[in-house]
Amino acid sequence: MKKLISLILAAVLLCSAIPVFAEETPAHVLVVYFSHAGENYNVGVIEEGNTAKMGNIIAEQMNADIFALEPVVPYPEDYDACLDVATREQQKKARPEYEGEIENWDQYDTVFIGYPIWWGSIPNIVYTFMEAYDFEGRTVIPFNTHEGSGQSHSQRDIEELLTGADVLQGLAIRGSKAQNDAEGTGEDVADWLKRIGLAQ
Ligand SMILES: Cc1cc2nc3c(=O)[nH]c(=O)nc-3n(C[C@H](O)[C@H](O)[C@H](O)COP(=O)(O)O)c2cc1C
Repeated sequence: MKKLISLILAAVLLCSAIPVFAEETPAHVLVVYFSHAGENYNVGVIEEGNTAKMGNIIAEQMNADIFALEPVVPYPEDYDACLDVATREQQKKARPEYEGEIENWDQYDTVFIGYPIWWGSIPNIVYTFMEAYDFEGRTVIPFNTHEGSGQSHSQRDIEELLTGADVLQGLAIRGSKAQNDAEGTGEDVADWLKRIGLAQ
């Protein structure tokens, strides 16, 4: 019996001495967002946009990769000037370009799409992204910041555009809250992820 126990102990010790090189599983969740730093409504001049802050919190809680849509032609820092550019883009149905592209798109089965509400809608640069990739069979989750409009009609707009995707209920948070209250935003995000079945 003693021999048997010694043998088992030796085997356990040997196994624990062998280093295990766990292969890192690539992320299957991606957070893509557009956000505008500079002067903004209710928050003054900000270094990091409100939606960027929300997107980072989601990525952290979901252990996701993250991709920011950085416009090739930057939007004006000045709030009123930015309003004008956004108006023109909406009128012309513009598709502004962004820097870079998403590598390994096929590895992601779940994609969060984040944006501020601009004139009641999704900023045009987010359409540039949504029209460029294949969403067939993927799970898509919208998120946004705003200063009164909530989601506006953006949930429906995404559902109508990405017909091949399973679009889950999005979350809208006040931009000023996302900017100034990381803890409260983190709690809102955690509750929402549970509600839509992406967290326990
Ligand atoms: C061009 C423009 C248009 C906007 N239109 C709306 C709007 O229609 N409804 C609203 O609630 N907020 C509107 N806002 C406020 C933004 O949605 C809000 O400040 C948001 O948090 C900004 O996020 P960001 O810092 O990620 O860009 C607008 C802001 C800008 C710059």
